[in-house]
Amino acid sequence: MQAMDGKALAAEIRTGLADTIRKLKEQTGRVPGLTVVIVGEDPASRGYVRSKHKTASELGINSRILELPETVAPARLIDEIHNLNQDGDVHALLVQLPLPGGMKTWEILNHMDPEKDVDRFLPVNLGRIMLNETSLFPCTPAGILALLDRYRIEVTGMNAVVVGRSFIVGKPIAAMLTNRNATVTICHSKTRNLDALVGEADLLVAAIGRAGFITADMVKPGAVLIDVGTNYLHDREEVEKHCSPIQKKRFEKKGYGIAGDIERAAYEKAAHHTPVPGGVGPMTVTMLMANTVELFKRQLNSS
Ligand code: GUN
Repeated sequence: MQAMDGKALAAEIRTGLADTIRKLKEQTGRVPGLTVVIVGEDPASRGYVRSKHKTASELGINSRILELPETVAPARLIDEIHNLNQDGDVHALLVQLPLPGGMKTWEILNHMDPEKDVDRFLPVNLGRIMLNETSLFPCTPAGILALLDRYRIEVTGMNAVVVGRSFIVGKPIAAMLTNRNATVTICHSKTRNLDALVGEADLLVAAIGRAGFITADMVKPGAVLIDVGTNYLHDREEVEKHCSPIQKKRFEKKGYGIAGDIERAAYEKAAHHTPVPGGVGPMTVTMLMANTVELFKRQLNSS
């Protein structure tokens, strides 16, 4: 039951990225540019955007945030995206999701230049993943692969079960594990026999967003457990049930504790697991930075 330390791996990767950025600046006089567009006031989204901005700035990336009000007209948002597409200092661009209700996600996102799409969410970029024709991946799935590589977990021939079918995590990681020769099953809220399918998983990726949804009795002994959930719990009973001792202390101080989608008791049955927090979470922002640097290099080479 080895914990996969995402915090440590993320720190290592960031050190390497800071070094690369410094060298590229010496060679070219330029630094990578990342712009994050956020629409509205959602506190969780604002927190994620702040964390992206802080990390990027620390690494020497030219990080900008474009904040627009919830009432912004879609045409204005699209205009802003067209301007950012044309801006030579912006190599990487993302629109924080979810967009406010009423805005059609793809009618907005599809205006982004796919070569600046740092999330790799646009249809052409997800298509490249399906075709196994790219080494750039959405940030959370990229973080998962980096963790598997670091712990030398070879997925060829494994039964991999992905719970959750979002385009942010579930669908791309399913394709990426298929490309690595795992046998992949995608489960979701309408799946029959979830317990039986999860019970066959040599590798389980839980990306559901419900604390403790995967219980210890469901998990196959010796499995690799990847927990993508970052669930903020505010209810004492829930915190008692799902959180680590450190998160219980955080609840007493701050009024919330963080828990994953996988029940903590399952870790004892597993060969490897990612803790929450400190597993997949820190890898996501780090891979965003890695993607930003890669897009910068590609655009330097093509200009
Ligand atoms: N909302 C939640 N996760 C993500 C992400 O990875 N990228 C963007 N753009 N929005 C998100």
